[in-house]
Amino acid sequence: MKYPDLFRPIQIGDTLFRNRIFSAPTGHPDVSVDGEFSEDAVAYYERKAQGGAAAVTLGEAIVDSRYGKRHPFQVSLDCRNSLHSLSQIADRIRRHGAVPSLELQHSGMKATPGIVTPGFCTGSDILYGPSAMELNGVRIQEMPEELIYEIIEKFGNAAAFLKNCGFGMVTIHAGHGWMLNQFLTSRLNRRGDRWGGSTENRAHFVVEICDAIHRTCGRGFPVEVRISASEIIEGGYDVHEGIAIAQQLRGHADIIHCSVGCGIGLPEEYRTFTLTHPCMFKEDGVNVKYAAEVKRHITDTPVAAVGAMTDPGMMNEIIASGQADIVEMARGLICDPDLPIKAREGREDEIVHCMRCLSCFSNLKDRGGFWCALNPITNRERAFARTNVHVTRKKVLVVGGGIAGMQAALTAEKKGHSVILCEKTNRLGGHITCESGVPFKKHLSEYIEQQIRRLKRSSVDVRMNVDVTPEYARQIGADVVIAALGAVPVRPDIPGIDGTNVLCADEAYADPGRVGRSAVILGAGFVGTELAIYLKSLGKSAAVLEMADHMNVSSNSLHGQAVDIKLREEKIPVFFSAKAVQIDAAGVLAETPEGPRRFDAETVVYAVGQKALSEEAAALYDCADQFYPVGDCVRPATISDANLTAMSVAQNIGRI
Ligand SMILES: Cc1cc2nc3c(=O)[nH]c(=O)nc-3n(C[C@H](O)[C@H](O)[C@H](O)COP(=O)(O)O)c2cc1C
Repeated sequence: MKYPDLFRPIQIGDTLFRNRIFSAPTGHPDVSVDGEFSEDAVAYYERKAQGGAAAVTLGEAIVDSRYGKRHPFQVSLDCRNSLHSLSQIADRIRRHGAVPSLELQHSGMKATPGIVTPGFCTGSDILYGPSAMELNGVRIQEMPEELIYEIIEKFGNAAAFLKNCGFGMVTIHAGHGWMLNQFLTSRLNRRGDRWGGSTENRAHFVVEICDAIHRTCGRGFPVEVRISASEIIEGGYDVHEGIAIAQQLRGHADIIHCSVGCGIGLPEEYRTFTLTHPCMFKEDGVNVKYAAEVKRHITDTPVAAVGAMTDPGMMNEIIASGQADIVEMARGLICDPDLPIKAREGREDEIVHCMRCLSCFSNLKDRGGFWCALNPITNRERAFARTNVHVTRKKVLVVGGGIAGMQAALTAEKKGHSVILCEKTNRLGGHITCESGVPFKKHLSEYIEQQIRRLKRSSVDVRMNVDVTPEYARQIGADVVIAALGAVPVRPDIPGIDGTNVLCADEAYADPGRVGRSAVILGAGFVGTELAIYLKSLGKSAAVLEMADHMNVSSNSLHGQAVDIKLREEKIPVFFSAKAVQIDAAGVLAETPEGPRRFDAETVVYAVGQKALSEEAAALYDCADQFYPVGDCVRPATISDANLTAMSVAQNIGRI
């Protein structure tokens, strides 16, 4: 047993949890306005239980539909029309030996007025918070005491309802700026009665809720309370207050779960998201220190840590050293739900580590489904299961050994096909391998190395330094050709682009020593802005020029937010509506809204987009019975897209 502390069972209340790895609360968007979870949602939660987590927690369900809903697709626990699907989810988690839990939530002053819960009620127009105030032009009213008591009762009843559905635990959401967090923070709670003032009074609401749940469900029923152990943002409470809150919960909560962040009403509120959900610019386990501080003061109640963890060695050490009793993961298990089983069996080199690119959350926010860049199956469990059938063995030629090509080859080989993978250069991984030295991309590099290892161990016939022509492809006589040729950097047509002081971004990433002490980067997409951050970390100065009037982050808006924050923190200037018109040995001349302006630097780097190798891919279309172009050679897109199409196409080969 390599990780004895991580896998030592823990008894909480009347329940034995099989290990210390909990799946942190994640909401699922696929819920009808009637509160029915789709089969896809059920499959998503079940998959985490299959992977070995000890508890699987469903995110934010609402205890008070009239005053507490944030959006229409939140399950209402006070009207009970989700009875069937909640029972089904609980059953599907439980049967794999995990404890199903659900997070009970009230949005308080962050509720959205007027949301209809069909057949039950219409949300009030009144927004209640702990105290009366005006927030961003919206009037908040002080919550009357009768309503506080009503809500306490609703929490108790909701937990009893869930217990009846088969849930083995509940999680009270008292962090992240939701209602109970609003009561806990003296910034927002200015009451003079027994629900405000001292920490004891501000925590009273949560304490009463814990007790109400124990009354309705029994003292042995585990109640986890998620707090923000620090609000983290300047002006919010710090970990000392987090400890004081936790102290109030002793004897009432069965687990104190220490997350971070709440920025309501603070100027830097926009920064909270990438702290609560640490972005790739933060170190692994960045928020564990807050849980550890709480744990130092609370020895008699289990404490859970969360945030940016995927390494079983690190998690074992967190438990072994007494920094926490439980570790919780959200994205780590979205990226690899089998992480617990793999760690337990000593197969940690097979774990796919979340790279914290935030595409899951951006997809949830912008496209309504949280899809992972590295694991195309998450949230498509049922769709992939449908193609997971017996296949006729085919000969498959994969052209290109980048992200898409490696994924296609591995998937096809796993399905039992005979696979040849040809790569034009002398290394696998595609052009993105140029970023292998970038510290904040280390999990992406690990992923590429892992795919290369998987290929080495597989039966795939990998042929390096082979430029596949149509003749070569025909000669192989494959049944299927998958073209995964990728894309090449666009070279902008600017006078001076041939200068010896000019590099493309790939060259700068691969060999930053070629960049002088200062650089002007042309293009404010992710490639250019992340390069500026990387160069700054190496002690060089960088400025970014962008022709458009905004950063190009549409593929991943929340990572865009993280990049934007990092650029500001590092004081890296980005000039918008700035069009480079001339490059010379001293830098760049650009047209800006204020007129022509010089940007002097030792090196000029261009990062203005990728050109798909579409013609080269199309040339292979008649070299086999089946032909599938995938990844960037179709249209430069994301790692998510490359992995998804490559895996789906390969999975479908030989199905009929
Ligand atoms: C897709 C997604 C959905 C989430 N939904 C919720 C939620 O409903 N309630 C909640 O308290 N936290 C939610 N979180 C936050 C996680 O529980 C967790 O605190 C955060 O992601 C940091 O942990 P991680 O680094 O392991 O992802 C969500 C996170 C993700 C990625």
